[in-house]
Amino acid sequence: MADNSVPSEIVFRVRRFDPASDAEPHWADYRLACAPGMTVLEGLKLIKESQSPTLAWRSSCRMGVCGSCGMFINGRPRLACNTQVSELGTSLVTVAPLPNFNTIRDLVPDLVPMFEAHIRVHPHIIREDRSEQQQPTGEFWQSPHQLEQYLQFSYCIKCGCCMAACPTYATDPVYAGPMPLAQAHRYNADSRDGGFAERKTPLSGEAGPWRCHFAGECSRVCPKGVDPAKAIQLMKRQLVLDYLRLWKQPCAAPIAKVPPGTKRREGIPEAPARTLGA
Ligand code: SF4
Ligand code: SF4
Ligand code: FES
Repeated sequence: MADNSVPSEIVFRVRRFDPASDAEPHWADYRLACAPGMTVLEGLKLIKESQSPTLAWRSSCRMGVCGSCGMFINGRPRLACNTQVSELGTSLVTVAPLPNFNTIRDLVPDLVPMFEAHIRVHPHIIREDRSEQQQPTGEFWQSPHQLEQYLQFSYCIKCGCCMAACPTYATDPVYAGPMPLAQAHRYNADSRDGGFAERKTPLSGEAGPWRCHFAGECSRVCPKGVDPAKAIQLMKRQLVLDYLRLWKQPCAAPIAKVPPGTKRREGIPEAPARTLGA
């Protein structure tokens, strides 16, 4: 829907819950004048400024980067800062906290279980030559093909939208969920990494990819274009090949020697001076 078709007045139906005073969550309606281009996050700020100062949510960057404003907006997990009211095509905007997590208050989900599962898969590069991480002696060169193996998975901002959409995560308390598993694959697929053996134990168990039914909801809702469902299927393949001893992770890419005479960049070069009209 184009901006000029946005109704001049909209209703935000927001799920409210204050554990200090409410036995159960309830819905509250707020009428707002809607400006063209207004995002759901801006609507929530207007409500807080003019109608309900106690309304709580998380947000920071306002540009789809920090991952903190994931909410359940008109029946789908989305980033509030990245969702314009006009694209919802209705004058009723429903906003609830992300499903599949406990609610701390109003629109604030408790994401601790997601991040605990994330930590368990060792989401960082693991190398035997760990001293290289403290005192680098060279660069870890990668070919465009090697970069392509993990690049899209590195765009994840840990917003939790995929976790909120996953039917398996909704029903299986042991399953790690799409974000942690996709991030495990992001590092397994990185030619600089040698950590598959360390990640194998948490991934081979009940929290791992075998519980995924490949419904693909996680990939459908991801606001950053990450495809966690694909990462999970690739991980299944890797685990099977490893079990059959048909696949062995290649040794982590060695440090490339810097050719003699190569100058390292010391900082951001100064922009050339521009003259008016140039
Ligand atoms: S994979 Fe996408 S939806 Fe899931 S946490 Fe990362 S950015 Fe969010
Ligand atoms: S593909 Fe797997 S991880 Fe993604 S939503 Fe479906 S069951 Fe969950
Ligand atoms: S406020 Fe940072 S992603 Fe929305």
